[in-house]
Amino acid sequence: MLILGKEVSRETRIEIKQGVEDFSKKYGRVPCLAVIIVGEDPASQTYVRNKVLGCEEVSMKSLKYEFPNGTNQEDIANTIRTLVKDDNVDGILVQLPLPKGYDEKYLLDLIPETKDVDGFCASNIGLLALGTPRTISCTPFGVMRLLKSTGVDLAGKNAVVIGRSNTVGKPMAMLLLNANCTVTVCHSKTQNLKEITKNADILVVAIGRPKFLKGDMVKDGAIVIDVGINRVDGHLCGDVDFDEVEPKASFITPVPGGVGPMTISMLLYNTLMAAIAREENAR
Ligand code: GUN
Repeated sequence: MLILGKEVSRETRIEIKQGVEDFSKKYGRVPCLAVIIVGEDPASQTYVRNKVLGCEEVSMKSLKYEFPNGTNQEDIANTIRTLVKDDNVDGILVQLPLPKGYDEKYLLDLIPETKDVDGFCASNIGLLALGTPRTISCTPFGVMRLLKSTGVDLAGKNAVVIGRSNTVGKPMAMLLLNANCTVTVCHSKTQNLKEITKNADILVVAIGRPKFLKGDMVKDGAIVIDVGINRVDGHLCGDVDFDEVEPKASFITPVPGGVGPMTISMLLYNTLMAAIAREENAR
């Protein structure tokens, strides 16, 4: 059965829009997300456009800062520093990956935990690891919402995450662990990958390799979540070979229309929560 990310996402955004309305009535302003993009990578441009459109959909304010590749890093850093001080800005997001030559850690470290709507900073990752999350990284957070929509009890399930990035794989593994799954994280150096994936009740694939997960790597009845968005010959495909895997899976996310829209919904949710927390802490 398909997990319709677009549908779950629509329901989530209706709730967020209501939250934005309540926030505006209470505090006399709208939550605001600032997005910074460096360079001309088409995939990043598309993601950022969808983030801005997402803000409009829930009546949130967005600010977009576009810097051409080659911009002096300190100019970008100074923009972040200004946004940090701006009381009307609730969330700051630097679209990743940055072009070669930029120091990702240096720029991300300028964003305080209170405005870290990506959930990337050390304290947000640390709190997640401790099982007491504050802001959760948007993609893994969205995946958890999609898993919840299946109605399947996650406790005790074998969950396998393929990919160990700081943005998806690692926080994903921690969320599944917090949900009482038995979690295995696989990556490019993993041996006997198929033996491990064949044992998975839940498979989350986030490696950025088109159609990597084949039918013979999947157990009958597994739940398969495809985080990949790859452009091949002009169309989008995931990290899962959908035609091979779909007949075996009990639930599977399509690409597009699966994890992607959910990621943006959780970003909007995180921005609303950051705005509420900032207002409540200001009083
Ligand atoms: N690039 C790909 N996914 C993400 C994300 O969730 N946040 C940011 N900032 N950049 C990304």
